[in-house]
Amino acid sequence: MGILAGKVALVTGAGNENGIGFGACRSLVKAGARVVVTDLVRGQADQERLDARVGELIAGGGEAIACALDVTDPQQASTVVDHTVERMERLDIVFNNAGYPGGVGPFLDLTDEQFNTSWAVNLMGIVNVCRAVIPRMRTQGGGAIINNSSLAGLGTITRFAGYSASKFAVIGLTKVLAVEFGEDNIRVNAVCPGAVWTDMGQAEVEFFRQPGQNFEEARQEAVQGVPLQRRWAEPGEIGDAVVYLGSDLASYVTGVALPIAGGLAPGL
Ligand SMILES: NC(=O)c1ccc[n+]([C@@H]2O[C@H](COP(=O)([O-])OP(=O)(O)OC[C@H]3O[C@@H](n4cnc5c(N)ncnc54)[C@H](O)[C@@H]3O)[C@@H](O)[C@H]2O)c1
Repeated sequence: MGILAGKVALVTGAGNENGIGFGACRSLVKAGARVVVTDLVRGQADQERLDARVGELIAGGGEAIACALDVTDPQQASTVVDHTVERMERLDIVFNNAGYPGGVGPFLDLTDEQFNTSWAVNLMGIVNVCRAVIPRMRTQGGGAIINNSSLAGLGTITRFAGYSASKFAVIGLTKVLAVEFGEDNIRVNAVCPGAVWTDMGQAEVEFFRQPGQNFEEARQEAVQGVPLQRRWAEPGEIGDAVVYLGSDLASYVTGVALPIAGGLAPGL
């Protein structure tokens, strides 16, 4: 019996095997939760990828289902919440993890589309899911929402204007919802990962890599400022914080933006 036994958790953007979303699904299942694994499904390959993730969780002894969810579509968010409650009877924890990494580049080169997509996925995606889930949590007597911001939502990173602005907004939204729904016993917190070794982490290494610099050298250099062992985080290390914030161990914790960054200070 894990600390999340009896609870149902929904995770967005969780179809990527190496991503934080799926890392969190693994941690949640390990803690005893039943999990709804969701992600964008643009075709058969995406559906197979999502089914494979669920298969992996079930093979490990967990209980999980897959649902297609584009977080920019409020109707889909509402359908997925209804489907979750139909299949799993309840919904206790939501990890709003889906993210768009493309709002990066020199500020004067960033397009409206890059800003708008950052906003649509990173901020409005959370708004859409929260609108669908909060009424359900209210009638259930409470719940826990965890939003994935970033260290880039706490401090500045040069050439990250679109991404960083949307991640600061995630923290603002988190804190307001925590206050607004405290009465309903709905806790709302954010995690702020630093450098996590995922596809997005790899893209960041490419982004900052100097011309002619070898990839491995750039990968190491990216974490030279991390006090804790000068290393990248594993996705499961973010997942374990999601378990804590989703559990009754955090029953008096709300409105927090928790850095999970090995001591790396926000801001470059
Ligand atoms: N990797 C890092 O170093 C790092 C650091 C801080 C924060 N983050 C945040 O963690 C989250 C997960 O990132 P990751 O590093 O695991 O990368 P990832 O690329 O594996 O995960 C992003 C996921 O979001 C999904 N997604 C994109 N648009 C979507 C949409 N419209 N609807 C639903 N899903 C959508 C993608 O399909 C993908 O599965 C993101 O919010 C990211 O901003 C990552």
